[in-house]
Amino acid sequence: MTIEQQPSTSAKNLTWVLSQVEELPTLPQVATRLLALMDAPGTSVKQLQDVVARDPALATKVLRLVNSSYYGMPSRISDIQQAVVILGFKVLRSVVLSTSVFSTFKGRSTASGKFDRTLFWHHSIGTACIYRYLATKLGEEDPEASFATGLLHDIGKLIMDEFVPEEMAYILEEAEGKKLSFYDAERMVLATDHAQIGAWLLEKWKLPTRIVDGVRQHHGDGSLGDRMIAIARFADYLCKVKGIAASGSCEEAHLDKMAWARLEMKREDLPSLLREINREIEAANEFLAVATR
Ligand SMILES: [Fe+2]
Ligand SMILES: [Fe+2]
Repeated sequence: MTIEQQPSTSAKNLTWVLSQVEELPTLPQVATRLLALMDAPGTSVKQLQDVVARDPALATKVLRLVNSSYYGMPSRISDIQQAVVILGFKVLRSVVLSTSVFSTFKGRSTASGKFDRTLFWHHSIGTACIYRYLATKLGEEDPEASFATGLLHDIGKLIMDEFVPEEMAYILEEAEGKKLSFYDAERMVLATDHAQIGAWLLEKWKLPTRIVDGVRQHHGDGSLGDRMIAIARFADYLCKVKGIAASGSCEEAHLDKMAWARLEMKREDLPSLLREINREIEAANEFLAVATR
């Protein structure tokens, strides 16, 4: 039966999608432990180092990224202790999360056969870097949480691609044929969306609530009381303008007026902002190249 022949697609809600997930993608245990430690008050550098020492492959990847031109360190960082001292726990959390997420999804099934994962990761890292840049520029207190939210905001699409491939293929066809955003197309097919599915996965991974909520709400039409949501929408828009649109989205870029108003930026700031964003995109590409090597 094709999706069009099915009597009602609205039965395919979040519970249904999750019931199709046979084997949950999990972060490496050592990464989960590190992320928990980095969020816990009173964690010592020694504790982190002891955990990292149990996984030399992870340590190598983390150090490779920390020493990439993305972070522009004046001299080489040779161990995790030095990395924590120079970059701090929060930046290190972004690095551990990035390398772990890439290795978790590497080699997993792309069952729909239609979803472009290379584009997906370019969009995810691009959003992460732009989101962190904007959060820093606008004086938000935890820009690294923005990086994680940007990196993971569309992660639900990977779950859909692997576990509900027939629906995923249909959504991608609809988006392309009707020039829709992925979100609008999936809402026609399912009674849920990739934001909810992604938030569910991140809850399972026990990531901080702020990141989980940011992912859950990145398409929501609720109030933009939280300025971080407005920043996330604007980051997504800038990605589209710069040609690193979300994989599967086929609509034109349009500026979310509510988000723009919430940011309280001036139109004349836009040209210089777009120039700075170009630098962020270059940096994102560098980050991706090192993180996936
Ligand atoms: Fe999205
Ligand atoms: Fe996106």
